[in-house]
Amino acid sequence: MTVFVEGQPVEARDGETAASVLLRHLGSARITPVSESPRAPFCMMGCCFDCLAEIDGKGSTQSCLVPVREGMTIARQMGARKVVG
Ligand code: FES
Repeated sequence: MTVFVEGQPVEARDGETAASVLLRHLGSARITPVSESPRAPFCMMGCCFDCLAEIDGKGSTQSCLVPVREGMTIARQMGARKVVG
């Protein structure tokens, strides 16, 4: 299937997570709002929160818990989550 990582089409396999796609293609999932350093998915099971990313436009999503689906948009989260009114 095809997903979009920061706007670029990327092949993904059924059953893999958005975090694994981010690791494979970008090497990180987010930039911290405090130190502005990159963080990468670590535990891959919902404990560390280092995989927070924007998935289908929704920020602060634990990408290790989200299976990919056709057409999904995935992007690194740059800093704090944006609050949309
Ligand atoms: S990789 Fe640790 S919570 Fe997702």
